[in-house]
Amino acid sequence: MAGKYFPVDIKMFRNSAKDITFDVYLKLAEDNYAHVFSRSSGVDYKRLAQYISKGITHLFVREEDDLLFREYMKKSPDKMLFDPEVPDAKKVSLLLNMAEQNLNELFNVVAIGNEVAASSTKVVKSFITMMGQNPKTLATLLRTASHGEYLFYHSISVAVISMYLAKATGQANPRMLEICGMGGFLHDIGLTMLPKEVVDSPTDLTPAQWREMRSHPKLGVKMIEATPNIPDEVRYIVFQHHEAPDGSGYPGGLRGPVIFYPAKIVGLADSFCALITKRPFREAYTIEQALGILQHEVGKYDRDLVKVLVGLFGDKKKAAAA
Ligand SMILES: [Fe+2]
Repeated sequence: MAGKYFPVDIKMFRNSAKDITFDVYLKLAEDNYAHVFSRSSGVDYKRLAQYISKGITHLFVREEDDLLFREYMKKSPDKMLFDPEVPDAKKVSLLLNMAEQNLNELFNVVAIGNEVAASSTKVVKSFITMMGQNPKTLATLLRTASHGEYLFYHSISVAVISMYLAKATGQANPRMLEICGMGGFLHDIGLTMLPKEVVDSPTDLTPAQWREMRSHPKLGVKMIEATPNIPDEVRYIVFQHHEAPDGSGYPGGLRGPVIFYPAKIVGLADSFCALITKRPFREAYTIEQALGILQHEVGKYDRDLVKVLVGLFGDKKKAAAA
């Protein structure tokens, strides 16, 4: 289509409203744009996630739609989530949109099967809806969503992978799956109390920053203490997700049998999800590389759980030998 276009960072769309009042294009070549999202059908999050996973960084909007685009950006969740005029129900629906988008991105990276994808999506969404009904828990969610794009995505990913891993152990009843999902979602909530420079540091942390970093399990428990609807087991997960079977973890330096089993599950899912995600300081590892790293970290993770994880995502022969 002829005319002039301006580029828009593709990530602008990932957490924005589905409804758009302008058309969106993909640049195929110089002066060649394909129409990808329309004002009548809105943003297709699944397709958006595919573009992001293919490394596309920008989409395009026609210059004549500049004003409409700017109006749309005024209503971006970053602003709406903290606007006291916006009703809580609207904020919850924005959070659900963000979750849907993040889940689509995750399912492009890890294949977990349609059934598990559907059931974990349901758990994550009903959890967000449940938390959104109480002002205190909604505030916790908003902190997670606004702490930068990594934390919300990471929280959702860890919730899904923890549930998948728990299910694969064969020892989980529905209650434990739910606990792992909630614990996975909230495990790093304490990070929202730390400065972003510490959380996203591209270089090694100073000893003082490292001390701050190690305080996030305690800070997390404090944040959700006395919060209605959050079971005690979830607090144990938040507190213990960095403990290691060999006693080298924090904050308690607890050893293997003492560590709460769902906390071990979430801890392993946490490391796996962090490794396969691009961070400001390094590229994402492939799934194979991530599994290799976790298998070599002897003593840091429950050995049997690592085997289950390798069985889920790795070469089955290697799982037997792990
Ligand atoms: Fe953590």
